[in-house]
Amino acid sequence: MSQKKDILSIRDLTKEDILFILETAASLKEILDRPIKKVPPLRGKTMVHLFFEPSTRTKLSFELAAKRLSADTVGISKSSSSVTKGEDLIDTAKNIEAMRPDVLVLRHPCSGAAHLMAKAVNCSVINAGDGTNEHPTQALLDMFTVKEHFGTLEGLKIAIIGDILHSRVAHSDMIGFTKMGSEVVICGPGTLIPPAPEIYGVKVEYNLLDAIKDADVVMALRLQKERQGKHLIPSDREYASLFGINAEILQKTKSEAIIMHPGPINRGIEMSPDVADSDRSLILNQVTNGVAVRMALLSILMAETGGQRQ
Ligand code: NCD
Repeated sequence: MSQKKDILSIRDLTKEDILFILETAASLKEILDRPIKKVPPLRGKTMVHLFFEPSTRTKLSFELAAKRLSADTVGISKSSSSVTKGEDLIDTAKNIEAMRPDVLVLRHPCSGAAHLMAKAVNCSVINAGDGTNEHPTQALLDMFTVKEHFGTLEGLKIAIIGDILHSRVAHSDMIGFTKMGSEVVICGPGTLIPPAPEIYGVKVEYNLLDAIKDADVVMALRLQKERQGKHLIPSDREYASLFGINAEILQKTKSEAIIMHPGPINRGIEMSPDVADSDRSLILNQVTNGVAVRMALLSILMAETGGQRQ
């Protein structure tokens, strides 16, 4: 993989980089099923995570990934950090760097926050979700899950349904899956579709049945209400009736199509409980794979750069 200090955007990764990350993750995944889930390669390395927004999966996944590889981890949330006393992000970053971590993992409500931090520090920075911009590690675990299931990403049709405009997962997935040769179709209410979807090389459908027709993957997204600002849809009920993935919709997908969701799910809105829990759903596989993909990223970054700018 070409030398990288940071993982900030899927745009910065070549197709070969992505394949290398996915292959590394595949080889590390079996560690998660061992009775003793710990190997030594990152002994003596330190990952610091800064989560300025709520998170269950991503935060625990990074923490477990680091621990499985014997790195030390320590983290802080916005409410317990000096940000509440008025410290700015760059000062926070420089102070953390002064304690010599190897990797800093940042989730932040502002788009571009991880890029800003990466410029300010010498250690590696991983973007764990910045505003509406990107969530590269989620896209990598999504690609891993699809490739693990179908054996390839080439030529598959991926239908992403929901609040595309405000979803950093959708942005990273659109860039990643198209880069890997998949055909991506996005679908949702007109108010939740980005203004220039053609720049992503994706197709737009406003009718759910057209979007899921022949799809190999149907991925639903949560309505990102915390980022929508004003009412962009008439009601959750109307959204569920037009774009919700329920048993009737599942019936209309190809029999081998899989269901995905980055989580957290709002059951009954973007997806009905029976679909989320069906044997076509790979939602929990995504969560398991997230640990393997983050193990791969941590080991690649720490091995290549030793955590420092080259
Ligand atoms: C997503 C996020 O935070 O961007 N979740 C995740 O990291 N798995 C999606 C969401 O919040 O809806």
